[in-house]
Amino acid sequence: MLASKLNDTITIREVLETDLALYRDLRLEALRFEPGAFSADYEEERARAGAAWLERLRGIVQDPMQTLFVAEESAALIGMTGIARGRSAKTRHSAGIWGVYVRPAHRTAGIATALLGHALFWAQHHNVTRVELSVTTHNARALVLYKQTGFNVAGTVHDVMRVNGQPIDEFLLEKMLPVD
Ligand SMILES: CC(C)(COP(=O)(O)OP(=O)(O)OC[C@H]1O[C@@H](n2cnc3c(N)ncnc32)[C@H](O)[C@@H]1OP(=O)(O)O)[C@@H](O)C(=O)NCCC(=O)NCCS
Repeated sequence: MLASKLNDTITIREVLETDLALYRDLRLEALRFEPGAFSADYEEERARAGAAWLERLRGIVQDPMQTLFVAEESAALIGMTGIARGRSAKTRHSAGIWGVYVRPAHRTAGIATALLGHALFWAQHHNVTRVELSVTTHNARALVLYKQTGFNVAGTVHDVMRVNGQPIDEFLLEKMLPVD
């Protein structure tokens, strides 16, 4: 398992099945308070049964083609970033980053940068040479974060989701990785 200390109190590590309740809380918090940043819907996710959450988390933990990094402090999860490789022989050199979130009280302390760094390290370790992610065009702080991490805007896609009936556009960003 890939893990490291960000500082004296915060650890960045891959998620475990035993994180189930904390993972559910963190994901629901992200969807509830940042509806414009994620395509999953808070009410739909909140209605999912406990078994469905366990199945999803197991799917991440047991699948070698993906992982989810979490930031942990004092037995609480304070941030997360997922990454998943393409599934076919034609796409497994490529991976997508999803679910980048840091709890409000812990922002601007470098946690998202560290989570992304771990995801990119994981990608390179798995011979991934291209990583992509999407960010809504109004999300200035996330866009700065991604550009600082070496992502470039590849294009704009329109009306990807609707929040309160309003169409939301997204930038598609990509970053090429050197061959390991
Ligand atoms: C975007 C988000 C993940 C950043 O997390 P974070 O841990 O605060 O990010 P970091 O501390 O690693 O900051 C990295 C860079 O992002 C930029 N940044 C972060 N917060 C910022 C803010 N409030 N205003 C402007 N720039 C900001 C800065 O350039 C910063 O680099 P610097 O510290 O060298 O100036 C966090 O604000 C968040 O969870 N937002 C809500 C969910 C979301 O939008 N997720 C992205 C979905 S695509």
